[in-house]
Amino acid sequence: MGEKESKKWVLMATARSPTNIAVIKYWGKRDETLILPVNDSISVTLDPSHLSATTTVAVSPSFDRDRMWLNGKEILLSGGRYQSCLREIRRRAEDVKDEERGICIKREDWEGLHVHIASFNNFPTAAGLASSAAGFACLVFALAKLMNVKEETTELSSVARQGSGSACRSLYGGFVKWAMGNKEDGSDSIAVQLANETHWEDLVILIAVVSSRQKETSSTTGMRESVETSSLLQYRSQVVVPRRLIQMEEAIKKRDFPSFAKLTCADSNQFHAVCLDTSPPIFYMNDTSHRHVQLCFLVHRTSYTYDAGPNAVLIAPNRKVAHLLLQRMLFYFPPPSEKELDSYVLGDTSILQEAG
Ligand code: DP6
Repeated sequence: MGEKESKKWVLMATARSPTNIAVIKYWGKRDETLILPVNDSISVTLDPSHLSATTTVAVSPSFDRDRMWLNGKEILLSGGRYQSCLREIRRRAEDVKDEERGICIKREDWEGLHVHIASFNNFPTAAGLASSAAGFACLVFALAKLMNVKEETTELSSVARQGSGSACRSLYGGFVKWAMGNKEDGSDSIAVQLANETHWEDLVILIAVVSSRQKETSSTTGMRESVETSSLLQYRSQVVVPRRLIQMEEAIKKRDFPSFAKLTCADSNQFHAVCLDTSPPIFYMNDTSHRHVQLCFLVHRTSYTYDAGPNAVLIAPNRKVAHLLLQRMLFYFPPPSEKELDSYVLGDTSILQEAG
């Protein structure tokens, strides 16, 4: 093949990863570069058909540098987190052969080849709905597929962790635990599946998007400030979470909804209390979030949790209770009328201001 010919090929791989919602939260790092947390956490992975990231990665000898597009817009790959994931996956890459097209990439060739990455989220990015979790899990999975990485999912979770902590949990479905580990190199800070997606099929998760705006304080900045200033965070990570983890694992194992719901709410409340205990305080929940919490207490047997944003994640033990909750939600938070919708279209912002 002449040089021009050999530069023509492009090899691609695509993956889709769901987001996950923590029921025992990760908040605070003991190592910012390797992304090592101050406590273990547990999450539930959502169905990929709803909140997920889809990523296509491509490699070609004609690419002169690594590039990435997020939701159609090119973003700089200079950030250490993308570079860490790329480096770690390239280090584990194997030979790739496509005999039909006469392509053969040796494991040692990967260092000299550049990739293009295109990723889409089917939900608001950076609005506190764990978009980075789905995004980095998907990126790592797609790169591993492209570069024929043979490692186990657990090993890949430690790579995704270096993109965004919560991403390590999105490589599995069902209920997942991220063990903080205690080794300095972070090799034991990995995600493991506690129960697969069929374990507790009755559970229904509803997401009430209160705002799709990007949050003012990113999780990374927020947790750094909490580690530096919140004494409640120290107490939480050393005393409360270790106890709560055991109880949560037990509740999941037994599908004990009352215990699961109580622990989930308590952990969300404490995470937001840590945010308030941070200096300057961080306010992720807003008035609408607080009203959702009150509503949850009106409908028996439901639970809520909030990540770093005002959007509610509501959990019901079955469809019947979920319908009841949804009915109440629509009663207290009715969708806009036709007239209101018209005024959005016509650009009358007064209603938006009232609503906001
Ligand atoms: C509140 O994983 O987004 O959602 O590791 O700095 O990228 P970085 O943070 P990120 O933080 C998630 C925080 C959380 C709780 C959780 O998912 O456990």
